[in-house]
Amino acid sequence: MMSYPYQINSLEAYHKAWNKSVDDPEGFWGEVASHFHWKKPWEKVLEWNFREPSVKWFQGAELNITENCLDRHLADKASQPAIIWEPNNPEEHHRLITYAQLYAKVVQFSHVLKNNGVKKGDRVCLYMGMIPELAIAVLACARVGAIHSVIFGGFSAQSIADRLQDAQAGFIITCDGAFRGAKDIPLKSVIDDALVSCPFVQRVIVYTHTRTAVSMIKGRDVWWEDEVRKVETAGNPDFPAETMDAEDPLFILYTSGSTGKPKGVVHTCGGYMVYTNYTFVNVFQYQPREIHFCTADIGWITGHSYIVYGPLSAGATTLLFEGIPTYPDAGRFWDIIDKFKVNILYTAPTAIRSLMAFGLGPVQNKDLSSLRVLGTVGEPINEEAWNWYNENIGKGNCPIVDTWWQTETGGVLISNLAGITPSKASYATLPMPGVQPLLLDEKGNEITANNVTGNLCIRAPWPSTLRTTYGDHDRCRTNYFATYPDLYFTGDGAYRDENGFYRITGRVDDVLNVSGHRIGTAEVENAINMHAGVVESAVVGYPHDVKGQGIYAFVIYSGTHGDESMVRKDITATVSRIIGPIAKPDKIQLVSGLPKTRSGKIMRRILRKVAEGELENIGDTSTLLDPGVVQEIIKGKI
Ligand code: WTA
Repeated sequence: MMSYPYQINSLEAYHKAWNKSVDDPEGFWGEVASHFHWKKPWEKVLEWNFREPSVKWFQGAELNITENCLDRHLADKASQPAIIWEPNNPEEHHRLITYAQLYAKVVQFSHVLKNNGVKKGDRVCLYMGMIPELAIAVLACARVGAIHSVIFGGFSAQSIADRLQDAQAGFIITCDGAFRGAKDIPLKSVIDDALVSCPFVQRVIVYTHTRTAVSMIKGRDVWWEDEVRKVETAGNPDFPAETMDAEDPLFILYTSGSTGKPKGVVHTCGGYMVYTNYTFVNVFQYQPREIHFCTADIGWITGHSYIVYGPLSAGATTLLFEGIPTYPDAGRFWDIIDKFKVNILYTAPTAIRSLMAFGLGPVQNKDLSSLRVLGTVGEPINEEAWNWYNENIGKGNCPIVDTWWQTETGGVLISNLAGITPSKASYATLPMPGVQPLLLDEKGNEITANNVTGNLCIRAPWPSTLRTTYGDHDRCRTNYFATYPDLYFTGDGAYRDENGFYRITGRVDDVLNVSGHRIGTAEVENAINMHAGVVESAVVGYPHDVKGQGIYAFVIYSGTHGDESMVRKDITATVSRIIGPIAKPDKIQLVSGLPKTRSGKIMRRILRKVAEGELENIGDTSTLLDPGVVQEIIKGKI
């Protein structure tokens, strides 16, 4: 059954689509976009230059993405589940929310936002756990035309404050707390700490979930439930979706770069909608009524694109899981798949590796026969994990899609299409239609041969190209479009094999990928340097069996505290407080000096070798100011 006219159903059709998308991008994407609901059609499909950069898709068109995610499904999918929610505690009841119910809840909460002063273009920060109300709040922001900025529940008060200030967000939606495995995270109290330095925040809406005690500040904080009751009392009026320009911002999502300050990546309404839907339907080969289980958190781009917008705009059933893969035991994912007869599982290599470590016990006696497609995202997947996933979860019957993309790209750029284009262990393989990857050498020359490694760039815009970094367009230009003129530079390295298949080798900049989370080394260094006794620090990554990369910090410490293990604990606590627990260093080595060039630049290459344990192969140290420091560092390696 062909339910999506733009769903690619053969290898030949893939090549045809790709060629057409390159020869005639406007014709290609105009056709795809014609299957969506627009309030007003576009005047021009695409206008762009990467020098400014300026990228405009579907100019002149008007829409509201929630009409595509909700209203247009009411005719034929009103009673189909839109969201299945599985709570952290398996003893608690799951929730099924149909498209009709989700529509009603989003409409209701749109009124709540409006009643609390939220207007089109306002920035609204969402700091919640993985509950349906997060998706409802996201969609309600989109319906009223506010720009949402979701912050992952693991970030600290300081990180939240930085983001609130950068976005000048006047509104916050949060919960009393969130459950994650055995933990109960007091979200509202973290928000209260953040708001000490954010007096511009005028309203905090708090949803009751964990029943953790919270302090509600008069005039600023209101309960979600009370506000919803007011709308009910008013007879639950309809809420016509705000008219948005295709290029109006839909959301800001902060992500780490090589500098210390996270960047607010901005995506816009039209192109993002078309591309996340197109890639969802094609990469996973979604079929009507299938259940799609993406295990990411909505606080990251994967959750935005493949839990919320991609699936819902395609009328799919999306499964939202509050907990973690190992609670109450390492069989949790498999229980969920068995319980709901999940068809598509989309998860991260780090989750697969951590579950592998528990052996096959937790997989046995679980009926996984409903699975049709498996996916991975977030970091390179090693062959061992790929094979384990293929054999023990897919039972050799489910294509694995290895999807490479980024917060900045909005949707998947390189991936096989499940069961349609070939897969190859540890390869993301071929570009999506509309995507033209190329490899460059250090000097900026394109490498056209195969069986080569290079820096991965993209030649022309796809519909969900990032448009800017919030409040600082030049930062967007210098970060992504200035390294190689007229190209988008991904920050990743890649290998291209004899078939033209791409294998992502990892970041080539100072960004770490720890358990699929992007963390800038400079960010961690800044946090470590906040500790009173720290003089200077340098942070590098090293290979870690489960996390992919671990964080290794070299720290010059001059404090008076004698006990080294206590110093390490204090530094770790500082990083947790400044960024959040996800950025805690795995190893901290106290050193008396760092390897620097005569001009004072830290030679990270050397530190990376030490962290990786390549002690015999340190390389040239003759240009160092004090080569002796290297020997000391090698001796003290952890
Ligand atoms: C890495 C997540 C290898 C890559 C969607 C990229 C991957 C960064 C893959 C973006 C993959 C993502 N294979 N590496 N399939 N997918 N990456 O912004 O280094 O959180 O630049 O977006 O993750 O991380 P982000």
